[in-house]
Amino acid sequence: MRHRITVTWLSKMAQNHWTLDDVPWDRLAPAEADRDLVAVIKAAALVEYNAESYAAYLGRVFADDRRFQDIAREWAAEEVQHGVALGRWASLVDPGFDFDAAVRRFRDLYQLPPTPERRSVRGSCSGELVARCMVETGTSSFYSAIAEATREPVLRFVCQRIAADEYRHYKLFLTYMKPYLDREKVSRVERAWIGVKRVLETQDDELACAYHAANGGAEPYDRKRAAQAYERRAFGLYRRHHIERAVGMALKAWGFSPQSRWAGLVRRAAWWLVGSRVGRLERQAA
Ligand SMILES: [Fe+2]
Ligand SMILES: [Fe+2]
Repeated sequence: MRHRITVTWLSKMAQNHWTLDDVPWDRLAPAEADRDLVAVIKAAALVEYNAESYAAYLGRVFADDRRFQDIAREWAAEEVQHGVALGRWASLVDPGFDFDAAVRRFRDLYQLPPTPERRSVRGSCSGELVARCMVETGTSSFYSAIAEATREPVLRFVCQRIAADEYRHYKLFLTYMKPYLDREKVSRVERAWIGVKRVLETQDDELACAYHAANGGAEPYDRKRAAQAYERRAFGLYRRHHIERAVGMALKAWGFSPQSRWAGLVRRAAWWLVGSRVGRLERQAA
């Protein structure tokens, strides 16, 4: 089963692979690049570019699964490419942005929290894969929202490609979870709890550090201020259909039907939460 998943994934990756040479850089229209969006993209580029540290962690968690280690390496290479593409775009629309220097600042500021050797911080391999599904759900929705929001043609092209990659990553981790679930018997409620905790972790240091490293200049790092500046710009990009789709993907990863009546309630609640968060951040900024 896992062998089949690996072969399918690696061949799909080869079919869908795009490179920086496929991007129509000559169509760049810097005047169409919104400044707030440029700031968000710079932060996203740094987080994507750091994926190899997550691949190393996944290699330890899945130390007994050589096939998954191969997949994690390919996955990280795609994420790093996302970072390079976004970083290059940001440097072209803002020639003052030095991507390599921002990467160094980010790495000085942020390191992955120490984790137990050969064990997932989520308690099981299934839990780890649920957490990965949540991240890919978030990034798939995020880049879809940017592709729809921007009028800058190169950024739209890049974000459409990245969003498709992120959705493929989600499907991979979801599929790979099934044999682990059969063995580890992690309940739907446990998976939902892991998923909710992973969503709440997006408010931790990583994105705030990346936003500061990319945009903070000489100011000292202030986690709360950087997190609010990032969230105000990023959350405002979402439209209702992005949030509803993300909720459906999350429910599926937790083992619930996205079509049930209560799933509709969860979708409405999630959209309300995003709207009220954006409203609060805008009031604070004003
Ligand atoms: Fe990515
Ligand atoms: Fe991804």
